[in-house]
Amino acid sequence: MSGPVDSRPEPPGWAGCRVVAHRGACRRAPENTLAAFSAALELGAQAIELDVQRTRDGELVVIHDETVDRTTDGSGPVRELSLAEIRSLDAGSWFRPAFAGERVPTLSEVIRTVRGKACLNVEIKGGPNPGVAPDDDIAGQVLELLRAEDFLGQVLISSFNHEILARVRALDAAVPIAVLYLRHHSHALEVAARVGAQALHPFFASVTPGMVRAAHRRGLRVNPWTVDSPWVGRLLFSFGADAIITNQPSVFALAGRRT
Ligand code: G3P
Ligand code: CA
Repeated sequence: MSGPVDSRPEPPGWAGCRVVAHRGACRRAPENTLAAFSAALELGAQAIELDVQRTRDGELVVIHDETVDRTTDGSGPVRELSLAEIRSLDAGSWFRPAFAGERVPTLSEVIRTVRGKACLNVEIKGGPNPGVAPDDDIAGQVLELLRAEDFLGQVLISSFNHEILARVRALDAAVPIAVLYLRHHSHALEVAARVGAQALHPFFASVTPGMVRAAHRRGLRVNPWTVDSPWVGRLLFSFGADAIITNQPSVFALAGRRT
């Protein structure tokens, strides 16, 4: 299994990280809840991915879908519900009755749960139009919170909405950024140059040794998502991938630590 090239700069706080727990340990506990993040920590995850959106009243909450329907007992778009309304929902029963009462966490709560134990890959969800930065400047609000929590050195910010990434870079010259995308590597390289990114986060099935080499030549890390099969993980590491984003952090526990 080949490791990262040492000359490639690693985001502060991410040194040695090769496994990122996707939405927490989301096979063991309901995704994007404190239970899932705590489970990831118990498994020894060095980094955890999560999804951030804004509520109607402008609070940053950690939830993947644009609506609460799939992962809570409520319904409706996240952006049309207040924090209080979202906090009243059960975000655990859909997964398993034992998790009844789990709540949709705020980004602050998650930071306080993982602080000193793991880094975060904060994926900023882009709203309905991925080509256009949302009016609400979610990028600025996420940065403000990370700064207030003194957590900027422990994050990698990613988004499929590359205008959000441009906004992040305009507001903060140093925070590590990852370009999220499916398969158009040359476009992703252009975006990475434009926004001053440190990493590419491609769909795992689109990753080739050649694209990893091209990214590394430009000083970019390559962290594919979402990799759950051990042999696919081994293959991607053999291609030179720096880390994998996985729903199964326990499967990759040994690969997750550099010796
Ligand atoms: O960050 C990788 C992955 O989380 C992107 O896809 O839909 O699971 O947020 P999604
Ligand atoms: Ca995500």
